Order: sequence, then C-alpha cells, then structure tokens
Amino acid sequence: MRNKIIFYLNGKRKEEDADKASMMLADYLRYDQSLTGTKIVCAEGDCGACSVLRYYPQISEQYLAVNSCITLLAQLDGSSLVTVDALKKNDEFHEAQKAMITCHGSQCGFCTPGFVIALAGLVEEKISKKELIVTSQEAKNCMTGNLCRCTGYQPIINAALAMDLQKSESVKVRFSSAAQEAELKKVLNVGVSLKNDSFEFIAPKTIKEALEVLKNNPDIRIMASATDLGVVHNKRKLKLNKILSLHLIDELYKIEENAGFIILGARVTIAEFRNFVKTSVPEFSSYLDVFASPQIKNIGTIIGNIATASPIGDTPPAFLALDATVLIEGSVSKKEILLSEFYLGYRKIKLAADEIITGLKFKIPEKSSTLKFFKNSARKDMDISAVNMAIKVDWKDDQKKTVKDLIIAVGGVAATPLRFKKTEDFIRVNGINSQNIDKVMLELHSEFTPLSDVRATAAYRHVIVENAFKRFFTEVGVLS
Ligand code: FES
Ligand code: FES
Repeated sequence: MRNKIIFYLNGKRKEEDADKASMMLADYLRYDQSLTGTKIVCAEGDCGACSVLRYYPQISEQYLAVNSCITLLAQLDGSSLVTVDALKKNDEFHEAQKAMITCHGSQCGFCTPGFVIALAGLVEEKISKKELIVTSQEAKNCMTGNLCRCTGYQPIINAALAMDLQKSESVKVRFSSAAQEAELKKVLNVGVSLKNDSFEFIAPKTIKEALEVLKNNPDIRIMASATDLGVVHNKRKLKLNKILSLHLIDELYKIEENAGFIILGARVTIAEFRNFVKTSVPEFSSYLDVFASPQIKNIGTIIGNIATASPIGDTPPAFLALDATVLIEGSVSKKEILLSEFYLGYRKIKLAADEIITGLKFKIPEKSSTLKFFKNSARKDMDISAVNMAIKVDWKDDQKKTVKDLIIAVGGVAATPLRFKKTEDFIRVNGINSQNIDKVMLELHSEFTPLSDVRATAAYRHVIVENAFKRFFTEVGVLS
C-alpha cells in the first residue's frame, strides 16, 4: 500500500500524506500552493467559482471541469489537475481567456476564473470530438454550473461562441505526457492507506479488500465522489475523518449493455451514464441535462445519487420507473435488491454494515414503451427538485391507447422516493380514460401526504403531481 497520494498539478508531480490529503482541494490550492486564481465563494458546489480541470484516466480521456470546493485532496489520487493559473502558455492566453477579454465577459474577479475553466472544459470536449463549432445551446449548457450575480451571462455566452477552436491547443496535449500517463497507471495499480491523528483514508484495489476494510472498521464511511458528503463536511455538519474510497477498484468503472440490460458500476459518473444511454434510453439522457451542473455530473456518480437516499434525488424515481435492481456485495455473498425495496425510511437504505453497493442493473425499455421524466424546481438548471416523477407505460395495442402495465414513481412527496402502487393497480384493472380520470385522481392523491417546506407547500406538490400525471397521458393521446 502507498502511504501517500500521488497526482499531477499543473504538470508537476505531487505526493502528499494524510496531513494535507484531508484538506479540501480548493483550500489546498489557495492556501498551501498559493494558486489563488481558483476562488471559493459558495463552498457547496453551486456557483462554479472554484472550478478546475481534472483528468482521471478511469473516467475520461480528457480534462473535465469539476468543483474543487467539495473535493477532498485525497480524491485527487491518480489524477492530473490544471488550474486557471496555468492556462496561459508563456505569454499567450488560452482561447477561453482571449474570448472573455474580447467579448467583455470578465465581469468580476470571483466568478471569472470559474467561467474561464468552464469554457476551457468545453474546448477540451469539442477538440476531443473533433468539432470546431460551439452552438449556443452548448455555450449555455457549459455554464449552468457557474453563477454570475452581477451583470449577466450574455457577454460570457458571446465569449463561448467566439472561441476559435481551430487555434485552441488542448490542455491534454500541453499537460499530459507519456511519462505522466505511465506514472498515473502505476499509481492506480497500488492501494492507498493514509493515517494521522485526525484523518484516515483507505483505498483498496479490489472489492474483496474493501469488504475486509469495512469488516475491520465499522465506523468507516464509504465515499463515492463526495458531491454530497463534501458539502455536509464543508458546512461542519459532519467530519469526514475516516474514509473508505472505492476509486482504485477498476471493475466499479464498468458500464455495459448485456442481453437487453444496462449494468453500471458504482464509480460510473452521471456524465458517463448520460452519454452511454443516449441511444438506448434517450429520455433518461435528456432528463440528466437538468440534473446538477456539468462540474457535478463530471465527478458525481449515479450510485452516489441512489445511496444518499434523498427523497428529492433526481435519479431514484427514474430508476424506480425502470424497475432497477441494486447490486450489493457482502463478506459472504452477492445479492440484488429491487430499488423499490431498497429505501427503508428517510435517508435509510437496506444495506448491512458489512456490505457495499457495487452497481445497478435495469432492463432497457422496449421501443414500444413510453417513458417520461418530469422535474419541478424553482430554477430550470442546477436546482434541487420540489417534485420529480417518472412514468413508464407498456401498451396492449400499437395505437398506445390501452395500458398493459405501468410504473409511476415520484420523489419529493414523502420521506423516500415512492412507487404509486395503488394507482398502478387501479389502472391495470380499469384502464385510464377521460371517463374515469377523476377516480384515478382519487387513487393518486391518496398515495401521498407531502410536507410543506422551503421548496413547495404540500398543496402545491399535490397539484404538480396531478398535472405531471395528466400531462403524461395527454401527451400520449389517452386523455384529451
Ligand atoms: Fe461555489 Fe465551489 S465555491 S462551487
Ligand atoms: Fe461575478 Fe457577475 S461575474 S457576480
């Protein structure tokens, strides 16, 4: 086992022990490395001021924008990082910087470095796809994770559109080398164990070893990408002081389609999953457009979103509608649990202390099925849902008028994401049409008693659920 984490920072190899590995990456950059270009504003992954570019070979071939304020330095193990301070090459600005200057996109010192990194991340993506034009939708999407509280976005969107991709040199070309690739590969082949008086970080190489660590350390916390835990830690509600990291376990990065099923490992990011299901489950892929920011999607995992068991998490209702199963490994056996049986109560999951979630599996819906997702939040992008909903219907007829089977899954209306099983049963037996819709609605509303909170009142949640449900059956032509 290594007793140091190893990574590259702006092209230089770094080794750090437990004393520094417990720092948040943004603090390490600013206060230990004096790289003050990276700013800390919200410290909870919401504003993008702390964005940096990270290359992690297990996840992507290219450098991706991520938030440094909610990332532990330890998580950087095996990565290469580029900060805004190093974007300029000799005397020449990066194309993103040039465009921001030309289009007057540089408005304040807090947000501008983050916007520049978001744009540089877009340049990396476009160059890797050999695409030379940025569309205005891509320009807007790339900055959904960067907030400006002063002047507005138009000059920054203009900058994104003005970047000359032909003239842009990839950060990967500048900062990666054969020697660095070889070193990262070597690093990723050896487990890590770091410890000081207040922090312990263990990263085994296999699931078997991880289960052993879990057995010997019942108080250890399994960490996926910490996009949730990092926030809680920053807000001092929880101290991340003993961590089991799964980042070195190769098999957890797999995502595959096999015999009509999609099986994804616990380390598959939201961005990877979104790309993977673009053709097989396009509705899910588009739904993830309004899930968090590019920075969060680039590091956050699907399993993290499932395991955190938030009643307003965006993916649990979607996976409930797909009748997904959670893949679990324990010291004595492997098992699969239906996601609908996985949530036991508020933030409580059916996972024993000696078990690890290794992945998720679901059947690709038939082409003839109809699948739709709804999200209601105060802002369209980058916001937590007040209510979210997923409905999948299999039809008896080609005209899609008679329901054969259906799943209705809803988040934000109870302590856990819910299946509306009574309503499903009612429709299976009686069908759904303009004549019986009032009876269907009585079933629907009897399934949940939501809370009123800062996001929505209970009455509003009832209205949203009813409207989303009716909208589904109106759009498919069952209701008029
Ligand atoms: Fe706002 Fe990190 S400081 S996202
Ligand atoms: Fe910083 Fe607008 S650019 S508040």
